[in-house]
Amino acid sequence: MSEQFYSDARLYDRLFPGGKQSLDFYGAEADRHGGRVLELGCGTGHKLIPIASAGHPCTGLDLSPQMLTEARRKAIARGVAVEWLQGDMRDFDLGRTFDLVFIAANSLLHLQGADDLVGCLRSVRRHLAPGARLVFDVFNPSVLMLARADGVRRRRDELSFVDPDRGVVHVDVEETYDAAAQVTAGTWYFSTDAEADFVVAPLVMRSIFPQELPLLLTLGGLRVVERFGDWSRAPFTADAELQLYVCTAD
Ligand SMILES: C[S@@+](CC[C@H](N)C(=O)[O-])C[C@H]1O[C@@H](n2cnc3c(N)ncnc32)[C@H](O)[C@@H]1O
Repeated sequence: MSEQFYSDARLYDRLFPGGKQSLDFYGAEADRHGGRVLELGCGTGHKLIPIASAGHPCTGLDLSPQMLTEARRKAIARGVAVEWLQGDMRDFDLGRTFDLVFIAANSLLHLQGADDLVGCLRSVRRHLAPGARLVFDVFNPSVLMLARADGVRRRRDELSFVDPDRGVVHVDVEETYDAAAQVTAGTWYFSTDAEADFVVAPLVMRSIFPQELPLLLTLGGLRVVERFGDWSRAPFTADAELQLYVCTAD
């Protein structure tokens, strides 16, 4: 459903250049656990390329060939070796284990059904070496945020960015929340002053609520070691923006 959104990888990188805090967090996790690192839904390598630059052997798996092409290009330009694999995190078998598996920036929320999520977590479990960790972040769905998904197209000024070829790009988003499925179906419109809606792309994301996440992890055969509410490792609270988990299979 969201493949088209990721089909223009350079546009994605300009829209979401990536925050330093999340980069530092995942970099610190790689340093803490050491060894081989696997990122699922690695995108264009925003986190994995710096982790590989720090000396960790890295593998990135993503569904999107376009995101992987851009990741490969960026890694080569920086002289960094990363193994890039096209695959589906819902069910994968790489035939080896890792010391850290991570799923960053809400990538897990592209899996909509409980079966898909549990399938992913079980696949992760099979890839964890003894003592290894799964670390991931997903947003904490607030009722206020979900109430804004009312089917109305709105300009999101905070998402505007400059594209070297097109100039200033404006972003409008129209979202509808299906409370039964816990899924937000969005349409993202990209426009310049000269060209309205030069890209229109759907983006679908599930919400996972704080009380259901530990249950999904248990079904996946994983145990929660730590849960944070932000990148500074503050405890998770009701108004936290993030659900940031560290899990183990042990
Ligand atoms: C929000 S982006 C995050 C990219 C990267 N992790 C980052 O931090 O910048 C989500 C990524 O998940 C990938 N993705 C979506 N569904 C997937 C699936 N079933 N298996 C593997 N990757 C998937 C998308 O192609 C996209 O690259």
